[in-house]
Amino acid sequence: MARFFYHDNKDTPEDFTDEHDSGQPVSEETLSKLGVFYRKISSMDELNAIAKERGYKNRDQVILNLDSFGGDVNAFNSKMKTFYTEHYHEDEEIRYIVDGEGYFDVRGKDEKWIRAQLSPNDLLVLPAGIYHRFTLSSNLREITAIRLFKDEPKWEAINRDSGRVSDARTEYVQSISV
Ligand code: LAC
Ligand code: NI
Repeated sequence: MARFFYHDNKDTPEDFTDEHDSGQPVSEETLSKLGVFYRKISSMDELNAIAKERGYKNRDQVILNLDSFGGDVNAFNSKMKTFYTEHYHEDEEIRYIVDGEGYFDVRGKDEKWIRAQLSPNDLLVLPAGIYHRFTLSSNLREITAIRLFKDEPKWEAINRDSGRVSDARTEYVQSISV
């Protein structure tokens, strides 16, 4: 079952896969106001129904762990660093967790990091344009996830420090400002 909490902002390049729970929980309502959709899924039929309802025609499955890099620690660490760099996409980021565990962090309205700790059967949809980052957890250091998408996925990560503000970002900011 997913857990949502404010990040303690005390992470370092050495320990960012640790939990970093500030002790302050975040409600699903707060997430929903950010345009983040969460659902605990109880069967593949349920996942398929939501996918149909939301127009997610396509999907693939990805495994992220050291083995998926053939044991190449440098390549693995480099990917971990990329995923943990604050970014957004021009499409939704839709993840259904099959196995393992991961932390998805999203920026709240006040710019505070909200951490979603996801385990098997959790579905999380991040809206296009939201700033976020991802890491494996030091508990498990691996995740298997189904990535769902509408047509051709736009996986490009637009890093916050690039300063690039696309229409998706502008529209997202407008959508949460009501
Ligand atoms: C992604 C996650 C890591 O962009 O945010 O795939
Ligand atoms: Ni992303």
